[in-house]
Amino acid sequence: MTVTIIRENAIAVVTVDNPPVNALSQTLRQALVDAVAELDADAAVRAVVLICAGRTFIAGADVSEFGKPPQPPHLPDVVASIESAKKPWVAAIHGSALGGGLEVALGCAYRVAVPSASLGLPEVKLGIIPGAGGTVRLPRLIAPAAAVDLVTSGNPVGAKKAVALGLIDAVIDGDLRSGAIAFANDVAEKPLPQPISRRAVPLVDAGFWENAEKAVAAKAKREAAPLKALASIRNASETNFADAMAFERETFLELRGSSQAAALRHVFFAERAAPRPPELTGVAPRGIRSAAVIGGGTMGAGIAAALRDACLPVVLVERDTAAVERGLANIHAIYEGSVKRGRMMQAVADERMAGVIGGDDYGLLADTDLVIEAVFEDLSVKRAVFAKLSDICRSDAVLATNTSYLDPRLIGEGLAQPERFLGLHFFSPAHVMKLLEIVPTETTAPEVLATGFALARLLGKVPVRAGICDGFIGNRIVKVTRAQAERLLLSGATPSAVDAAMRAFGLPMGPFEAQDLGGLDIAAFQRKAARTRGETPFAPVAERLCAIERYGQKSGGGWYDYQSGDRTPKPSETVVAIIAEVAAGRPQRAWDEMSITDAIILPMVNEATRILEERVALRSADIDLVKIHGYGFPRWRGGPMHYAEARGLAEVVAVLDRLAAEGLAEPPCEGLRRPAERRHAISPS
Ligand code: 3HC
Ligand code: NAI
Repeated sequence: MTVTIIRENAIAVVTVDNPPVNALSQTLRQALVDAVAELDADAAVRAVVLICAGRTFIAGADVSEFGKPPQPPHLPDVVASIESAKKPWVAAIHGSALGGGLEVALGCAYRVAVPSASLGLPEVKLGIIPGAGGTVRLPRLIAPAAAVDLVTSGNPVGAKKAVALGLIDAVIDGDLRSGAIAFANDVAEKPLPQPISRRAVPLVDAGFWENAEKAVAAKAKREAAPLKALASIRNASETNFADAMAFERETFLELRGSSQAAALRHVFFAERAAPRPPELTGVAPRGIRSAAVIGGGTMGAGIAAALRDACLPVVLVERDTAAVERGLANIHAIYEGSVKRGRMMQAVADERMAGVIGGDDYGLLADTDLVIEAVFEDLSVKRAVFAKLSDICRSDAVLATNTSYLDPRLIGEGLAQPERFLGLHFFSPAHVMKLLEIVPTETTAPEVLATGFALARLLGKVPVRAGICDGFIGNRIVKVTRAQAERLLLSGATPSAVDAAMRAFGLPMGPFEAQDLGGLDIAAFQRKAARTRGETPFAPVAERLCAIERYGQKSGGGWYDYQSGDRTPKPSETVVAIIAEVAAGRPQRAWDEMSITDAIILPMVNEATRILEERVALRSADIDLVKIHGYGFPRWRGGPMHYAEARGLAEVVAVLDRLAAEGLAEPPCEGLRRPAERRHAISPS
């Protein structure tokens, strides 16, 4: 870490260089305080430019210090010392000014930024609130409604919007350093502006805070930080600066030590580690400048849109001309939807569509860098596709299958240059869902695997390497979840009680609602395949529902009844009767919310641990990312593995043992038992 000071006539340029993102470590905080003192004492200096080296302005507090006791100088004091400097400090922003970085900029007398800069207070995404004046200075600088928006959403704004809000004073086109120095020379002539801390918060309309509270609570659900952030802004508008700062700091420190913050920090670092697995260090990916998708159904269309969103030219190959038209229409419908929802300009949608060429001639693929197959989930259909690709594509083109359950080794069998083949498992809708399971076979070359990870980065997806097994990581765990959900029904719980408990836990939907939405027929098809492999999948009630064609919402009923045109699930007497028949003779018990949650989540953890033991997943945090980004597991719980660790593995094992004794779950695997016993042995009693 270095902070250098260079004098450019009467302007001092303070450059922060603390790679990778200029986070505010203790040494940087100290260096900034020292710089204020040094420049205050230098009579030749009339104004100061605070600028950063590398790819960004200060991106915030150093999150890796959050688990440790705070070390002085504390950030609020650093910001206060910049704000009380005798000369005007000008924050010159490029990249991102986030969290503590923006708070430092709010301490400066002025803020300027390049057009591509973004500014925000993302603390709520880490389970905390701004801790160095963000909630107190911001409403004193910009309209309280805008401050509420920025702080409680955690979403950044671009430079253009920042000027409109009054968050920054100018946008600098061209070289930031010289532009900021010119700006500093101008303001050096003027009296110092009133520090933000001494400004008043503008009055708000009656009912403003109550309405904001309702809106924030509805979005935050069970996340604590957004409402606490709102409370801090409200307090800041109703009390004096010093008291407001004390209130903010107290809330910040309380949340910093909370379990939600620990979970969100875990996810933050897991997401940043995911794109760069250590086993691929130094392996260069192949270049991807063009892509193709085979099959333009649900997945193919979504994958094509994801590739176009990353500006890759896309070829879509279908079975015949009619199917090509349907496939193109599917992609068009995705963009039309984005335009209708106001998320995309029509011109952008048109440009995206113009970059897709459709056809039924595999010859279109002769020079494509990456081909992703998304045809029917049928081994012989997929093998026939790869036989053609093998003949037509360049020998260094990367060839991928999006299969959900088939063994990629069988799909790619017989392929010329098998080292270029791998599984790329997208999640539906593929242009929205962030997860990408990357499934190498034994023959996949390291650079082809690295290409999968590079593609994920290009598409803005979270990549997780998965080994080959039925369902890879995510869907294999889903099978256990569904079996557990049925075990609950057979021992006294109802579908609506199970779904309600899982929603209360933080999932967007319970297992039965989710099956009704996706369709029960898909899982029935997979169970059939499993039985032909000699397996005995457990879904006695689902089998009965499929036998009477209750496939879910699409057939007017599944686990629930649905009235036509209404997606609201209604408890079904038919289902109650079937459950009673299947459950006859089984012991019944009472299920409360917590015990339902345990009977679903802890077997999930058990299966996930087996997945780790088998090295189908390489890191426990990868499993957390799969469940969060593929299945809506609440981020603030950190994923199932983090949840189990936080709960205590000894307790997880004890609950699983109790469930197993009642025949309500598999017993805990050795991979769970061993660390639980080890930790139990070393923890002080
Ligand atoms: N603290 C510590 N490390 C950080 C960090 C932070 N605030 N932000 C990023 N890093 C690390 C990452 O872990 C990663 O490390 P690695 O190379 O060892 O894996 C490295 O910096 C690069 O990060 P990215 O891969 O995310 O880099 P990008 O260029 O893609 O993105 C960024 C840059 C937009 C700045 C992004 O890193 C980001 O959003 N960072 C988080 C910003 C944030 O949340 N700030 C608020 C912190 S809380 C706070 O300030 C509290 C205050 O109010 C008191
Ligand atoms: P779909 O039935 O919606 O689409 C399949 C498309 O492939 C159809 O448009 C069909 O015309 C086309 N097709 C069939 N044979 C072809 C051939 N020989 N050449 C070119 N096109 C051909 O199926 P969906 O849901 O898109 O699934 C595709 C693949 O993605 C499957 O392997 C599936 O398991 C997998 N998958 C599906 C997910 C989902 O949620 N639907 C999630 C993740 C993976």
